[in-house]
Amino acid sequence: MKVLVINGPNLSRLDIRDSSIYGDMSYPQLEAHIRSAAESNGFIADVRQSDDEATIIGWLHEAADSNTPVIINPAAFTHYSYAIRDAAELVKAPLIEVHLSNPLAREEFRHTSVISGVANGTIGGFGPNSYSLALTALKTLIS
Ligand code: DQA
Repeated sequence: MKVLVINGPNLSRLDIRDSSIYGDMSYPQLEAHIRSAAESNGFIADVRQSDDEATIIGWLHEAADSNTPVIINPAAFTHYSYAIRDAAELVKAPLIEVHLSNPLAREEFRHTSVISGVANGTIGGFGPNSYSLALTALKTLIS
C-alpha cells in the first residue's frame, strides 16, 4: 500500500539547520530512511518536500481524492497554516503528524499545532525515528 509522506518548508536544508535540534541526517538521507522504514512496514512511500503552502495543499487534495494515508511534517506551517489544516481534514485515510524535534520543548510559538486536531496522532522528538514510529502506527491503524 502507498503512503504519501509530505515534508514542509526548510526540511530540504537539514544539512545547514541546527544539528543539535534536527540531528545529522541530510534531507536525502532522511528520505532514504523513510523509504526503508516504509518498506519494512509493508508500505511504498511517496516522499515529497515543498516550501510552498499551495503545493502541500494540492498534495493533500490528491491524497483525499485517492484515499491515500498521509504522514506529514508540516514544519513551520504546523503552527499557523489553517489552510493546510483544512486540507488535512479532507483526508479520510489515516493522517499522522510528525516532527523531528519535540516542538513542546522549544519556543512557545511552537507549542501550538493547528494540524494536530485533524490528525490521528502526533509523533515528535525522536529525530528520523519519528517517521519510523509513525509508519508502525499507520500499519496498526490500517490492519
Ligand atoms: C519541525 C518543528 C517545527 O517547529 C519547525 O518549524 C520545523 C521542523 C520538526 O520536524 O521538528 O521546521 O517540524
